[in-house]
Amino acid sequence: MSDWVTAFAPASIGNVAVGFDMLGLALEGAGDRVLARRTDGSSVTVAEVRGLDGELHPYLSTDAKSNTASIAAQAFWDSHGDSDGVELKVLKGVPLQSGMGSSAASAVAAVVAVNGLLAEPRPVTDLLEYALVGERFASGGLHADNVAPSLLGGLILCPPVLLPDVYSLPVPDGVSAVLLHPDLQVNTAQARRGLAKGYSMGQWLEQQGLLGGFIAACAANDIDLIGKTLRDVIIEPQRAAAVPCFDNVKAAAEKRGALGCSLSGSGPSIFALSASGDARNIASAMEQACRSQGISCQSWVSPMTAPGARVEHA
Ligand code: HSE
Repeated sequence: MSDWVTAFAPASIGNVAVGFDMLGLALEGAGDRVLARRTDGSSVTVAEVRGLDGELHPYLSTDAKSNTASIAAQAFWDSHGDSDGVELKVLKGVPLQSGMGSSAASAVAAVVAVNGLLAEPRPVTDLLEYALVGERFASGGLHADNVAPSLLGGLILCPPVLLPDVYSLPVPDGVSAVLLHPDLQVNTAQARRGLAKGYSMGQWLEQQGLLGGFIAACAANDIDLIGKTLRDVIIEPQRAAAVPCFDNVKAAAEKRGALGCSLSGSGPSIFALSASGDARNIASAMEQACRSQGISCQSWVSPMTAPGARVEHA
C-alpha cells in the first residue's frame, strides 16, 4: 500500500454557447477531488464516493465499471501497464446532472491523481484521452468540452474531429464568467439523444460565423465582438424549454449588461460572460430571476483564466 495522492479538477462550462461539443471553459470555485493509492490488487477499485457534506454519496456507485472516475483511471492504468492495483476515493464537489461538467471533473481528477502515483508522471496533455473514456461512459458521446478545460484550465477549443489534440485559446482581458446552477437536473445523455439530427445550411452558416467571430474576438481582445457573437442559434432553442427559469434568467443577465448568456453544457446551469466589474451584479440578477420562479440556486463568478486540474497532496 502506498500513500494517497489527492487531485482536484474544476467544474467547466461546455459549449460556451457558440461551440457545441468543441469549446469549453474552466470554472473556478467548484470541482471534484479524487484520492488514489496503489494496492496489492490488479485493477482500479472505488473505496467510497462522498458528497460535499462528507456523507456517502446517495446516488453514485462504487462499482468500478459504472463510476466515471474509475473507468477513466482504469483506462490510464491499463495504458501504463503497471501490475499493482489502484484504490480511489471520490469527493464530489460538482452537483450531478448540473451542466457543470460533473462527470468530466471526476474523470479528470482520477487520471491526474493516478498519474501522481507514477515514478515519472506523464505530461498532462497525455491524460486527456483517458479522461475522455470516463466522460464518454457518462454522456454517451465523444466530446471534450468539459474534460479539456477541466484538465488544462482556461478556454479550450476541442473539436471532436481534431481529438485528442486540443487548443488553449487566448481570453479577453477582464472578462468574467458567471455560472448559475438552478436546483434542477438534466441528464446529458438523454439531452443529446433528443437533439435534431439535421440542420439547414442557413443555421450552419450562422453558427459557424458566430464561432469564428467569437474566437477572433477573444484573440483580438474585442469585447464588442464578443457581445455580437456569444449566441447559440442551433442547440439552445432545442434545450431551453427543459429549464423552466432559462428565459427569465437570460433576460435578467442581459438587462444587467452581460455580453451573452446561454445554457452551460446541456443545462440546467446557465452561464453569462461579463465585460467589466459587473459580474457580481449579473450573478445576483440571475439568482433573483431564478428564485422568483420558486427554484433555488447557487452561483459562481470565475475569471476566464481559471486553472485546470492539479495534484494537491502527494
Ligand atoms: N457538449 C455537451 C453537450 C456538453 O452539450 O451535450 C455536456 O455538458
